[in-house]
Amino acid sequence: MDSVILDWLNIGLRWVHLIAGIGWIGTSLYFMWLDAALIRADPPRGDVEGHTWLLHSGGFYLVERRKLPPGQLPSPIHWFKWEAAMTWLTGFPLLVLVYYLTRGVYLVDPSISSIAPAQAVTLGIGVLIVGWAVYDLLWSSPLARGSGLAAALVSWVLLLVVVYGLTHVLSGRAAYIHTGAMLGTIMVANVWMRIVPAQRELIAAATAGRTPDQTLSTRAKQRSTHNSYVTFPVIFMMLSNHYPATYAHPLNWLILWLLIAVGVGVRHVMIARERGRPADWWLVPVTVALAGVVYLTSPAWLGGGRHGGDRVGFVAAKEVIDRRCVSCHSQTPSDDVFRIAPNGVTFETPESIRARAETIRARVVVLRNMPLANKTGMTEAERDLLARWLDQGAPIEGGAGSR
Ligand code: HEC
Repeated sequence: MDSVILDWLNIGLRWVHLIAGIGWIGTSLYFMWLDAALIRADPPRGDVEGHTWLLHSGGFYLVERRKLPPGQLPSPIHWFKWEAAMTWLTGFPLLVLVYYLTRGVYLVDPSISSIAPAQAVTLGIGVLIVGWAVYDLLWSSPLARGSGLAAALVSWVLLLVVVYGLTHVLSGRAAYIHTGAMLGTIMVANVWMRIVPAQRELIAAATAGRTPDQTLSTRAKQRSTHNSYVTFPVIFMMLSNHYPATYAHPLNWLILWLLIAVGVGVRHVMIARERGRPADWWLVPVTVALAGVVYLTSPAWLGGGRHGGDRVGFVAAKEVIDRRCVSCHSQTPSDDVFRIAPNGVTFETPESIRARAETIRARVVVLRNMPLANKTGMTEAERDLLARWLDQGAPIEGGAGSR
């Protein structure tokens, strides 16, 4: 397909995906908060379970949570379910566009595994489907009874296994986004297959004037709590492609484990506070996990080492860049996927190379995720040559004589 059309499809899907996601997460956060903020009237008032006054933009709002009197269904009722659907319906095509229609450059990495792009696509889609099936089965099983502790433990272990497994088969970037897409799919399926049916039952029961089936509501509440806990980690995974220091890190699985723990921990503190049972001590392990991530991604841990050896002149460095980078990073790329310079970054003049010396070091020497998927077949000797040139201060003067 024409790259301009693909670009606009990408922009359009991403734009709507973000808007729908913000709408969805926004209302979920709001309702979790609202449930906790409701005040019981004293003395109790009829069917009102709780109420609260809100001030927003230009007015005061009175929100009440009520039991419906039998046989009376107000109308219209707003459901808040389309935001979730739209988030998935724009997210999945975006996944296809960026990861499945780009000949594997973002999806696989030969330095991680030899999986073929077509197999990786099957794996990626499989993870979304099987992830939901296993999760749903687990949380419909006897393990989920009572406090659900057993099911929660199994879910955690499975999630960690998925992260570890994917980061050892797909490119780091694809592993992160697929973990996020799997959790996002579970969230949407929770809404549409477990929460909305429970709400339908509430409505049917109210219309018929009978008591609703409590098991559906209990399960819906449980699923909605899960959604709430994974929200923050999922948002990180969706943003992670901007942060190669996380996904391209040699211990990218550990980094993601820690960041999932951070996201869940912060959400837990928020929910606990809202429920009036503060659990702020959770911030201690959260801070430790976050500090761990910062340390792991710092030069102190990553280093990249010093690369000793002969002096490397600019001409030699430029030759490597011409051979391995410029097929993508140029005003007129010759690459079959990238028709415009990625991120607008080109390496055609000495100054443009020099100006990005530090990011080149990060991507080529430290994180080693450039050339992308090592599509141009950069050798270790070439990496080492660039590393030495960078360590020597990335000189660009000296001309042809300084080989
Ligand atoms: C197959 C195409 C391709 C090749 C070859 C390639 N890159 Fe990239 N590069 C990309 C893409 C796509 C991005 C943007 C995505 C990302 O940041 O990971 C990128 C981003 C970068 C960035 C970050 C730019 C920024 O936004 O600051 C640097 C630095 C970089 N590449 C350096 C190199 C170097 C050095 C080489 C050669 C050793 C190279 N790349 C080879 C596709 C390529």
